[in-house]
Amino acid sequence: MIIAVDGPTASGKGTIAKALAAHFGLPLLDTGLLYRAVGRQVELAGGNPDDPATALAACNFPPALLNDDSLRTEAAGGYASRVSVHPEVREALYQRQRAFALQPGGAVLDGRDIGTVIAPEAEVKLYITASVAARAHRRWLEMTGRGLDVALADIERDIAARDARDMGRADAPLKAAPDALVLDTTHFAREAAIEAAIKAVEARA
Ligand code: C5P
Repeated sequence: MIIAVDGPTASGKGTIAKALAAHFGLPLLDTGLLYRAVGRQVELAGGNPDDPATALAACNFPPALLNDDSLRTEAAGGYASRVSVHPEVREALYQRQRAFALQPGGAVLDGRDIGTVIAPEAEVKLYITASVAARAHRRWLEMTGRGLDVALADIERDIAARDARDMGRADAPLKAAPDALVLDTTHFAREAAIEAAIKAVEARA
């Protein structure tokens, strides 16, 4: 069984994907990490993420970079969003994601285009979303909880910009697959959202 979990930044899709993988005993690939590693590799080299050739060269990032804490920052997310608009980058990362999805026994993948491009045949497709205000508030709680001094308004602006770039790009834009179940977590507590996702998988599997 392939479970595709797509959605915008800070929607809770990562948490839901992790919970589904644990609940159903399936391996999990957070595909955003691949784009973050490419973006970070460009940043480390002092390159321009908007240049397709520079971004493509960075797809040969060292595997250890995937475990680096530096990928978790907002800056890395911004770089990831910029390199991910280039079709050559998406193509370079395609095979790795596709192979993960097709492994015997199934898999959970979370990202932006899993249900539309990477695994359109997935048995279960979830599209996790929430209002920009709710997502910004969650991200703000999480960051201030880590002791970071950040303004809610700045986070809200960054999230809106990332949404616009991810949804507006020509190649594999972020959107719900026609057969995806849309789960709006704006008014859901974390546990309730996870429970709804598990029920959705059980109903569709
Ligand atoms: O999910 P995460 O925030 O880690 O993703 C970082 C960025 O990588 C996203 O904003 C998006 O631009 C890009 N991405 C993508 N396709 C995916 C996963 C992530 O374009 N499957």
